[in-house]
Amino acid sequence: MGKSGGARRVDPADRAQLAESPVRFRRVLALFRPHWLRMVLVVVVIIEASLVALGQPLLIRTLVDRALPNGNRTLLLLCVFGLVSVAATNGILGIVQAWLTTSAGQAVMSDLRTRVFDHVQNQSMDFFTRTRGGEIQSRLTNDIGGLQAIVTNTATSIVTSLTTVTATLVAMLALSPRLTILSAIVLPPAVLMTRRVAVLRKDITAARQKTLANLTGQINESLSVNGALLTKTLGIAESRSSSFASDSRELANLEVRFRMAGRGRMATMDFAFAAIPALVYLAAGFPEFMGEISLGTLIAFTTLQANVFKPLMSLLNLGADWVAALALLSRIFGYLDLPVEVEEPHDPQPLENVRGRVCFEKVTFRYTGSESNVLDGVSLTIPAGHTVAIVGKTGSGKSTIGHLLARLADPTSGRITIDGVDIRQVRSKDLSRTVGIVNQSPYLTHSSIRENLLMGNPRATEEELWKALSTAQISDLVRSLPEGLETVVGSHGLRLSGGEKQRIAIARTILSTPQLLILDEATSALDTQTEHQLQSALDALTRGRTTLVIAHRLSTIKDADTVCVLSNGRIIEQGTFTELVEAGGAFAQLADEEARATDEAPLAQEDTP
Ligand SMILES: Nc1ncnc2c1ncn2[C@@H]1O[C@H](COP(=O)(O)OP(=O)(O)OP(=O)(O)O)[C@@H](O)[C@H]1O
Ligand SMILES: [Mg+2]
Repeated sequence: MGKSGGARRVDPADRAQLAESPVRFRRVLALFRPHWLRMVLVVVVIIEASLVALGQPLLIRTLVDRALPNGNRTLLLLCVFGLVSVAATNGILGIVQAWLTTSAGQAVMSDLRTRVFDHVQNQSMDFFTRTRGGEIQSRLTNDIGGLQAIVTNTATSIVTSLTTVTATLVAMLALSPRLTILSAIVLPPAVLMTRRVAVLRKDITAARQKTLANLTGQINESLSVNGALLTKTLGIAESRSSSFASDSRELANLEVRFRMAGRGRMATMDFAFAAIPALVYLAAGFPEFMGEISLGTLIAFTTLQANVFKPLMSLLNLGADWVAALALLSRIFGYLDLPVEVEEPHDPQPLENVRGRVCFEKVTFRYTGSESNVLDGVSLTIPAGHTVAIVGKTGSGKSTIGHLLARLADPTSGRITIDGVDIRQVRSKDLSRTVGIVNQSPYLTHSSIRENLLMGNPRATEEELWKALSTAQISDLVRSLPEGLETVVGSHGLRLSGGEKQRIAIARTILSTPQLLILDEATSALDTQTEHQLQSALDALTRGRTTLVIAHRLSTIKDADTVCVLSNGRIIEQGTFTELVEAGGAFAQLADEEARATDEAPLAQEDTP
């Protein structure tokens, strides 16, 4: 059934994966249960196709032994009609089977893909920091794509091969038991030999792909903007060239071996296909050993023998196929079994008409696997509508406070409330509508400016969009773009500067009108003048809203109602700007340091990342 004779070996990595996290068979069955009817139909179709295919050699025998020698035209016509019908029926059954397996396979795949996507999306931010980006993509596309192979290839090939081999053996026995014994002696070595060559070719293919990937990696790395810069500035062009040349030669070598192994595989197959019938003809010439064999039986028998060759080959692959498929599932299930660290509440509390009083009550936080607390018993009350600024050295835990309020992670102990409601009791949907964040590194998706803005509020009118842009001091730039709001930004779109990105992100937050705002270094990427303009825009935005400002530069927090100084995860000082300066403690020292730094390096403020 059109399966190419590729040979596979069990991959040790797959075996290790299964040893580490075995897959329960029931769980695999559960995936296919919704499609059981289609599965049963597939088996029925395959068995039927194998039986129909057996008609062919029997018809050939009748045709050669009885219709042709006797000039029996009616029988001849019947046989020919039978042969054509068998071919047509098999063709149609093949199509039906392909449709059944592919559609069932794709349905299972799509289910699983969506489940993994949903589950991974619900993971905490910590998860995404810990996991390499490419790994998630690979899991979603490659691994689940590989599942298609299980359903359409492995599962079908088990059934196809087994039924074909069994049915063919029965027919061969019926035609001639002695020839069948002869086949049983010569077929296995031939099949094994062909398989060896095929496995060799597989190994070369793997090596070839690795070298090719190496080469592509080097091209991407050396001939990109950053790579070229590195090569030139470090003066390593020569060593890069020589390593490229050696990989290139290696690839050429492997390519030759690959082609030759391919030829070798074809040659062995051709040899087996020609030599085995020849042996059967030879045997037929010794009726004293083999018994009387009619011409029709001989032809029918050799046809059957050719049919059994490929299914036998693929049966030998089953072990490897099966292990590969299970290893794939084991990896996918591994993702589905990841515990969700930030869980949705079982008994959600509504968060309506939020006034915006925020309380941190003895909040302690530590990253999983980390040894020390990032936050250590932080207690802080922000009255509704007030602005609290958090300052402190880098790494002191400022951003972490913001992340906990947005529930990107849960405190290790203590709790955070909004209007008295523990945020763990609030649906994530409601919470994200209430709490808005403008980040250190804003993220724009690869889509138009309009679509990026509409993420803040899908129902925003044209007028509201422009108003938000103008509040964020970016409307002039957008208006000057030839495509205006339709300009595509993000990873491969228009290259916006850090400050421009940040202002678009601010406009997006403005549109979502959260009652609570977290500004995490919102103005860090802007030059002094824009910062000034934006500061007034942000003032307008924060008016009447509870705001948590996380800042490095003290100039931006003069108007905060309260300033908290964070050090090693503890709030060590708290008060108004002036109070703290007068107190002459840690904050006064920070202010002093900053004043001196600005005097010494006036340009330092204008750096943009
Ligand atoms: N995913 C993580 N796993 C382990 N530790 C982390 C993780 N993310 C942050 N940390 C650690 O937590 C501490 C506090 O980080 P945080 O980002 O809150 O600091 P910050 O005060 O905002 O610093 P900055 O001023 O540089 O933005 C740092 O020591 C950091 O190394
Ligand atoms: Mg930070």
